[in-house]
Amino acid sequence: MNKWMLGCLALVVPALALAAPPAPKKEGIEGKGYVWNAEEGEKLEAMKKKGDAKRGEEAYEVCGACHLPNGAGRPDGTFPQLAGQHASVLIKQMADIRAGLRDNPTMYPFAQQLTDPQELADVAAYIQTLCIPADHGKGSGDAKLLGEGKALYEKECQTCHGANGEGDAKKFYPVIAGQHYKYLLRQMTEIREGKRRNANPDMVKVIGKYSERQLVAISEYQASLSMPGSMCKAPAKAPAKKK
Ligand code: HEC
Ligand code: HEC
Repeated sequence: MNKWMLGCLALVVPALALAAPPAPKKEGIEGKGYVWNAEEGEKLEAMKKKGDAKRGEEAYEVCGACHLPNGAGRPDGTFPQLAGQHASVLIKQMADIRAGLRDNPTMYPFAQQLTDPQELADVAAYIQTLCIPADHGKGSGDAKLLGEGKALYEKECQTCHGANGEGDAKKFYPVIAGQHYKYLLRQMTEIREGKRRNANPDMVKVIGKYSERQLVAISEYQASLSMPGSMCKAPAKAPAKKK
């Protein structure tokens, strides 16, 4: 390749990158007239469909690259654990990401590959069937922080997210049990700062007044929750060696 051609390529490649449409950006909690979780758009369409978990398993293949094939995500918090999440929550989050109401530049190009509301319903139906791995990323285990987090959670979060972090499928309240500590802490921070624009406004009010330490404490406690009946059975322990 000669210099002239290399020069052309150098001009063309960035232009191509720019040509890929960026994620749209929609106003959320800060915007005038915004109604949280309005019954409209792709979410409403997907909620009307009956999800087919078998078809969803195929659609999920591309997702497994980041969220892992068992939906466990990563303990370092980069990719959330998805397994066992309510289908309603999954549909809302995917629809919000696709509509530009929740920023997720890493995932946006993949979220865009889901073809229609039926496919959203299918992939959500599949993910919902997966058991929640119990070996997720935990906090420091500091008993004092855990106690502070528990007190806050029981007072201000439990009515929506449940005593064991089970959420509420009908109300689109997410399962928290089994989620990675580092992801939780990042969400807490982004919700406090108004960066997660699709967040429930009542929750934003609660978390808005939290200090850094309270965010850490509440994340610590959430990462300790476990939901009876939905967690994966712990891998069988190797039999103890005879001495
Ligand atoms: C390139 C990596 C990547 C791929 C591929 C990917 N995701 Fe994600 N996904 C992420 C990241 C990163 C986040 C967390 C963003 C944040 O911190 O807000 C996320 C968040 C989510 C959430 C929100 C979870 C929650 O607890 O609110 C859902 C639902 C989700 N992904 C579903 C999917 C599905 C379904 C697919 C396949 C169509 C997929 N993802 C493919 C990176 C990816
Ligand atoms: C009024 C009900 C309500 C209250 C109170 C509430 N939440 Fe939430 N929470 C929600 C909803 C709804 C979502 C999903 C947000 C959305 O629509 O995207 C959510 C999302 C979250 C998430 C992100 C989950 C994920 O997978 O990305 C975390 C973590 C969380 N809440 C923790 C808390 C904590 C901790 C408290 C108490 C300090 C709290 N919430 C109080 C309703 C509530």
